[in-house]
Amino acid sequence: MTPTSFPKSAIRAVLLEGIHASAQTRLEADSLGVRAERAAIDGPALRDAIADAHLLGIRSRTKLTADLLDAAPRLLAIGCFCIGTDQVDLRAARARGIPVFNAPFSNTRSVAELTLAEIIALSRRMSERSAALHAGRWDKSASGAHEVRGRTLGIVGYGHIGSQVSVLAESLGMRVLFYDVAPKLALGNARAVASLDDLLAASDVITLHVPDTPATRGLIGPRQINQMRPGASLINNARGGVVDLSALADALREGRLSGAAVDVFPREPSGAEEPFDCPLRSLPNVILTPHIGGSTQEAQEAIGADVAAKLLRFLNVGSTLGAVNVPEVDLPSQQGPDARRHRVLHFHRNVPGVLSKMHRLIADLGANVAGEYLRTLDDLGYVVLDVDPTDSAPIVDGLRTIPETIRVRELW
Ligand code: NAI
Repeated sequence: MTPTSFPKSAIRAVLLEGIHASAQTRLEADSLGVRAERAAIDGPALRDAIADAHLLGIRSRTKLTADLLDAAPRLLAIGCFCIGTDQVDLRAARARGIPVFNAPFSNTRSVAELTLAEIIALSRRMSERSAALHAGRWDKSASGAHEVRGRTLGIVGYGHIGSQVSVLAESLGMRVLFYDVAPKLALGNARAVASLDDLLAASDVITLHVPDTPATRGLIGPRQINQMRPGASLINNARGGVVDLSALADALREGRLSGAAVDVFPREPSGAEEPFDCPLRSLPNVILTPHIGGSTQEAQEAIGADVAAKLLRFLNVGSTLGAVNVPEVDLPSQQGPDARRHRVLHFHRNVPGVLSKMHRLIADLGANVAGEYLRTLDDLGYVVLDVDPTDSAPIVDGLRTIPETIRVRELW
């Protein structure tokens, strides 16, 4: 077990909103005390729950404001057990030297599998046939139904999800082409094409796996839809702003495209009580899903384990790898002869002269800096010092007196 500056059992992790048990299991395996709540809590109950928490785990419903962070003076790190981190005032957390971690890639496989299911379902016009039968109509026909074997899949965005879709689609016998703005290693027999237009013109199914950026907003509009092969279909499991849904609806109504599957929308209801509308409603061979691409039990389990591991790595080693609001410093755990060194973690305001103040202070105390890892991000600096065996308490006390210091912690 990696030592920290006080007993692990005294470290309290509070997990809210029914975070998967995989997180609790991991944290408890490292001897932390865990309080897990199934529901979101707010108001005074939330303040009480976080008052002496060292680690806090939330999903999307808990809004962590600057004011709430002030009510959690012991808080070392926050884990968002989801993809988004908008629910946390990231600037306020950063100003207090509190890293925020999330799990951007734990649901990659879930999105890829949904996409694969949709490729087949659209090619067999499954939603239409199913809807007819639910309505009592026996519509048995091969019209418009195709195997996917031998057909061409065009992937826009060959990142984590796009490349998984590529491998899975090839295993079904599809020919895979992709377009990405960054150079990407083609997996299997997939081939990169030079432009989006080339991809649109050559594919029977187009699937989008790009992030939401100014460059991808409206990426698929009327002109791009016109470039697509007659009878092709389009899948958007990326972000709602990427496709012009009115242009897509026109192309489907006019029979220029044969089908579409859409999981993400420009305006998504905040909950079940808010009605949903979009131009694709009631069109045949259109699969609409309520942003569930990444929503599986397996993804929840992976998110639980992933974020808990990031929290523990920060707690035990000082690594901020994967943090969204503070400089990322990844460093080895102290093992072998290094284990006798003290590790000091220091968040500070990133202004000239702070490091020299630190070095002077450490030199004056007669300590030796055996390792130093520094990264800065705008107004914040994070430095990790391994100091040779001596009592690190005076170093920590000294660092606290530097005016730019935000937070100091020691591991030993
Ligand atoms: P990633 O960052 O691994 O890959 C994105 C790829 O898109 C990168 O290779 C990047 O170079 C490429 N790209 C960026 N701009 C481009 C452009 N203009 N044209 C072509 N390629 C471009 O991201 P990942 O994990 O594969 O996710 C992709 C998308 O899926 C994200 O928007 C994410 O929000 C969305 N997503 C949706 C979920 C759902 O529930 N439907 C769940 C998880 C992710």
